Amino acid sequence: HKPWPGLIEAYRHRLPVCDTWEPGWAPVTLREGATPLLPARALSELTGCDVHLKVEGLNPTGSFKDRGMTMAVTEAKATGKKGVLCASTGNTSASAAAYAAIAGIECAVLVPAGKIAMGKLAQAVMYGAKIIEVDGNFDDCLELARKTTATFDTIALVNSVNPVRIEGQKTAAFEIVDALGKAPDVHALPVGNAGNITAYWRGYSEYFADGVASSRPRMLGVQAAGAAPLVNGAPVKDPETIATAIRIGSPASWNQAVAAKDESNGEFRAATDEKLLEAYRLIAKTEGVFVEPASAASVAGLLAATADGWIEKGSTVVCTVTGNGLKDPDTALSSLPEIARVGIDPVAVASAMGLTE
Ligand code: F0G
Repeated sequence: HKPWPGLIEAYRHRLPVCDTWEPGWAPVTLREGATPLLPARALSELTGCDVHLKVEGLNPTGSFKDRGMTMAVTEAKATGKKGVLCASTGNTSASAAAYAAIAGIECAVLVPAGKIAMGKLAQAVMYGAKIIEVDGNFDDCLELARKTTATFDTIALVNSVNPVRIEGQKTAAFEIVDALGKAPDVHALPVGNAGNITAYWRGYSEYFADGVASSRPRMLGVQAAGAAPLVNGAPVKDPETIATAIRIGSPASWNQAVAAKDESNGEFRAATDEKLLEAYRLIAKTEGVFVEPASAASVAGLLAATADGWIEKGSTVVCTVTGNGLKDPDTALSSLPEIARVGIDPVAVASAMGLTE
């Protein structure tokens, strides 16, 4: 039994690891990928479907971004870049910082001032990235990152507009088909900058084209209601949502996301912050999986789409939960129940538990 080598080694024949890279290049890896596909008992019972959670918060930096980042930083290193730069709502910056740290190259992250979750900031600090706050939102940060990297060619752009990011992220779809033995009927996931829906659709389509899977899922892309440009059909100037990870008004992979929806006979949906938080609590309490608020969008979409019949009972559904709940302790603790306080007294403890009988 060989240890998991990380996704570049595992899926090398399906990834564009290039002839133009320096000879002797090696993967920059934290052994990302191979995340659990967890059967979701409570959600299955609730919806009448066969629901599975793809738990991407168990990647090395706690989000799916590591799949793309192993590719992007490997490429940056193998093509002689001196540093990497990204715009981020938090997870991309945490991931870029970690992979740059092990690659031994500079990393700077452009983040919207005051609008990223505390855990993600802590990660970027610890991995040693230069944190640059921008007076603006994610869309402004991305524009600045694009301009900077277009002007300075020793700096690589590691946002999902970098094509190798998408290539790395498509491996999640491979893992799902490998684990289920087939493609699901529906795949639900949160959508922000729209890189990930693009990546999953590519992964499913490649396996379908090669006959590994005999079908492809309908893609259900879920946005926060206050940041739902793809649902509205137009960019949102001042996106707002508690799910800061997907607080994005002008997704870079707009056309690819629409193609994924259209080609898969899928749809985009919006979920209000209230619905996102409901799903966020439900996943933790019933499935034992603590995700960040944005990640709950997939499950909020599942609940809405099974309630109105867009997803038929009996369907096999995979919901990607994209990031770990520990990244955003503030949101978790904002609805703190009353905390019991006792002396060193077993009866008081049992009584606080309501289990004195
Ligand atoms: N879920 C989480 C936890 C995210 O961090 C993101 C994006 C998404 C979903 C949406 O994925 O952008 O590919 O549609 N986070 C980016 C970042 C924007 O900077 O960390 P997408």
